[in-house]
Amino acid sequence: MHPRNPYRNTNILHLWCAHAGDLLDEEASRACASLLSEDECARWQRFRVERARREYLAAHALLRNALSHYGTLPPQDWRFKSNAHGKPAPDPDCGLRFNLSHSGGLAVCLVSEADAHVGVDVEPAARANQIAAVAHKVFSPHEQAALDALPAPDKLNRYLDLWTLKEAYVKARGLGFSLPLDRISFLSDNPDRAPRLARLAVDAALDPDPDRWSFTTLDHAGYRIAVVVENAAAGLLDVREARPPAATAIPVATLLAPAWLPDR
Ligand SMILES: CC(C)(COP(=O)(O)OP(=O)(O)OC[C@H]1O[C@@H](n2cnc3c(N)ncnc32)[C@H](O)[C@@H]1OP(=O)(O)O)[C@@H](O)C(=O)NCCC(=O)NCCS
Repeated sequence: MHPRNPYRNTNILHLWCAHAGDLLDEEASRACASLLSEDECARWQRFRVERARREYLAAHALLRNALSHYGTLPPQDWRFKSNAHGKPAPDPDCGLRFNLSHSGGLAVCLVSEADAHVGVDVEPAARANQIAAVAHKVFSPHEQAALDALPAPDKLNRYLDLWTLKEAYVKARGLGFSLPLDRISFLSDNPDRAPRLARLAVDAALDPDPDRWSFTTLDHAGYRIAVVVENAAAGLLDVREARPPAATAIPVATLLAPAWLPDR
């Protein structure tokens, strides 16, 4: 086990964001690449589409820098092990948990110093219409009914919330898409406050204690991001931007957001 950081703050959950576009700068790109392990380098090289390559590099450099901000290793020294469904964790264990997501040019990395399971998902807000097209396959009957009752202007917003929250939840569980998304429901308890999803309902066979999860969504730079954490392990969500992600681990913007279930 790595030594634990004696100054860890278990009351804050950390969300780091990085833009793949920053790696159009060759120096930044080289700095990021120098942090990757051999395996990561090999995976990075296998991407044929340049945008996907850049996004992968931004995400994995961001992860390493973010972990080093709270842990005791330099970015290039982190090693990872994955569970049976592919969820990575630091190897050996050091009390830090994380989850990574990248989509449409933004990479996000959620870090908990409280040993709590976490999940994160990011989608460009512009993808709401694409999500709407496949909603019937992934949303539960309860969610569909709630969607049908929403006024049209609120619907796209709800699609984004549901999609990202479901992904963040299955990622927090570490089980990926082996969990049936249509048996997991994020619901609003108060129809007068339509945008606010306050309750998670899951078949007992899939999750005997869904109340242990706290969750929220937020908008950042044109993206919807969902965050799910176990046991309300953190009271605050600290959102940071790392630009460029690997040249320096110092974030240029810090926003302390009231964490759970903010109104939009
Ligand atoms: C995990 C999963 C939900 C990712 O969804 P996605 O929307 O494509 O990707 P995201 O950008 O949000 O997240 C990707 C990151 O999540 C992490 N991840 C991978 N598997 C994960 C899992 N089971 N749970 C949580 N996080 C996982 C990785 O860090 C990954 O980053 P990388 O691909 O750059 O290494 C999806 O790929 C999945 O369900 N995988 C499960 C596969 C499985 O069950 N395999 C069984 C063994 S064959």
